[in-house]
Amino acid sequence: MNHLLSIEQLGAGEITGLLDSAEYLKRQRGRDARKLEGKTWALIFTKSSTRTRVSFEVGIRELGGFPMFLSKNDIQLGRGEPIKDTARVLGRMVHGAVIRTFAQQDVADFAEFSGIPTINALTDDEHPCQILADLLTIREKLGGWQDRKVAFVGDGFSNMTRSWMWAAKRLGFELAVASPASCQPAADFLTSLDAPNVSITADPAEAVKDAHVINTDVWLSMGQEDQMDKELEFAGFEVNAGLLANAAPGHIVLHCLPAYRGKEISADVLELHANTIFQQAENRLHAQKAVLVALAR
Ligand code: CP
Ligand code: NVA
Repeated sequence: MNHLLSIEQLGAGEITGLLDSAEYLKRQRGRDARKLEGKTWALIFTKSSTRTRVSFEVGIRELGGFPMFLSKNDIQLGRGEPIKDTARVLGRMVHGAVIRTFAQQDVADFAEFSGIPTINALTDDEHPCQILADLLTIREKLGGWQDRKVAFVGDGFSNMTRSWMWAAKRLGFELAVASPASCQPAADFLTSLDAPNVSITADPAEAVKDAHVINTDVWLSMGQEDQMDKELEFAGFEVNAGLLANAAPGHIVLHCLPAYRGKEISADVLELHANTIFQQAENRLHAQKAVLVALAR
């Protein structure tokens, strides 16, 4: 593995190998092999972040490396310097890069032009680091995804849903996506996904019925904040106690956070499942350390 650009580009063995490594690193925390000793990793963020930034900064330090946080306003990228030029400069100075931005192509270009390990820390297309943490949480809470039904209720074509759909394709679990008709995955995406185990519905109750994992995310992703009319489409899509009534016994609720109570999730459901949801947030650290170890040169 040279980069982590998407779940789409990972094989099932690579995903489970990273999860095995994350479990090991979680058990070993505080006794880490210093795989990044003497290495500097740049964190280039053009969008806000709490969990991703903190977990990468802490993870890089715990592995003996030095994280260098660069918001777009700190560097010339924010004034229009092309990503491929930024990549060619940083590739001569730092040893790896973590990038959060809009276009997936920018992360791919950075990987190509920098020549250093590059990690997608969220684009408009995918959020692979989050999905690794989510899968780790499912393993810990339910023992894995074998014969489990996963539901995703919310924006059917966001970075999170796309990564979940690729995870279902690669790992073979049943995934039911419930999304308003106007936010469902594009037909050409579903054709390229070609996953009979992924279903799409406009009925959240249908998706959640008998589901063991119920997942949701914000209705407006970063960069869409002014699309208030889009939010109106989500009436009836709140993950609340009523919706969960027909989920499988012992189900868990996941949310990548940040959460908007009273919109995509009710306050009582979030608090009832806070133990899982914040374990999921913590797992960002362990999963990303596994990725860093896999990419360490
Ligand atoms: N879930 C997630 O990526 O959180 P941040 O936006 O806070 O990094
Ligand atoms: N879909 C959300 C995920 C946030 C972690 C966004 O892109 O804003």
